[in-house]
Amino acid sequence: MTPILAAHQLEKTFGSVVAARDITIEVPPKQTVGIIGANGAGKTTFVNMITGHLHPSSGSILFEGRDITRLTSREITRLGISRSFQVAQIFPSLTVFGNMAAAAGIARIGHGGTWGIFTPLHAPEVTAAAEAAIDLFQLSRYRDVQALVLPQGVRKLLDIAMAVVSAPRLLLLDEPTSGISIEEKFDLMDVVMSALKSRDITILFVEHDMEIVERFADRVLAFYDGTVIADGTPKETLGNERVQTLISGTKLRTHRAEGQRA
Ligand SMILES: Nc1ncnc2c1ncn2[C@@H]1O[C@H](COP(=O)(O)OP(=O)(O)OP(=O)(O)O)[C@@H](O)[C@H]1O
Ligand SMILES: [Mg+2]
Repeated sequence: MTPILAAHQLEKTFGSVVAARDITIEVPPKQTVGIIGANGAGKTTFVNMITGHLHPSSGSILFEGRDITRLTSREITRLGISRSFQVAQIFPSLTVFGNMAAAAGIARIGHGGTWGIFTPLHAPEVTAAAEAAIDLFQLSRYRDVQALVLPQGVRKLLDIAMAVVSAPRLLLLDEPTSGISIEEKFDLMDVVMSALKSRDITILFVEHDMEIVERFADRVLAFYDGTVIADGTPKETLGNERVQTLISGTKLRTHRAEGQRA
């Protein structure tokens, strides 16, 4: 089967900083891949290269067998890759519905719609897509609440829902649970993962919390100093000695998770 994503020998340098080196991975459709690594390990750089927000210095990226290495982020979104950012990208003054309708309107234009900037956000197709995403992500109760006053967890959920309204086949989430309390993290991820899986979306998510990674990923990539030092099941990667030594906190958090299950 053709991998949905194939990265081959990716390198990215910023002056003397090597943010990505020799990254080669293949992801089959429908897999959920967790990405771990310390601050500055190159996780966001990797995500940015796949989504076209950065171009690699060398190497190639294929999406469903098609070379997307030099495409713009807009072209890549149109092909079926979407993302959320480390910091939620929402319109604070709009309601949840307003945000979703704006995202649906933009997605409609991206998919070759003929509408311009003055397209009404209450056009039937836009409204239907927005309502469906609100439903899917269990946001109905917040539908008419201004984004500015949403709890952080709901704001992150809204941001992810907005990335899904364009019906991507591959979704990249950069720290979906950052800034959220430990109690809220699992609930948020339960909602996100069941929504995405119901649509057969392939997921790459960057995450610092090893318990979240262990619970939700099928496979875990560990980044260190711009490269992948371990790639396997959560158990394999989190149990890897280099991962435990080099990625601070891993050992402690993994052991705590094991202790809780015992
Ligand atoms: N636009 C840029 N210009 C210069 N250096 C950059 C740029 N973006 C990233 N870097 C550097 O590349 C390295 C990798 O950064 P990156 O943001 O990918 O790390 P990260 O793993 O996402 O870290 P974090 O967990 O803190 O989000 C770091 O040394 C960072 O300072
Ligand atoms: Mg980052």
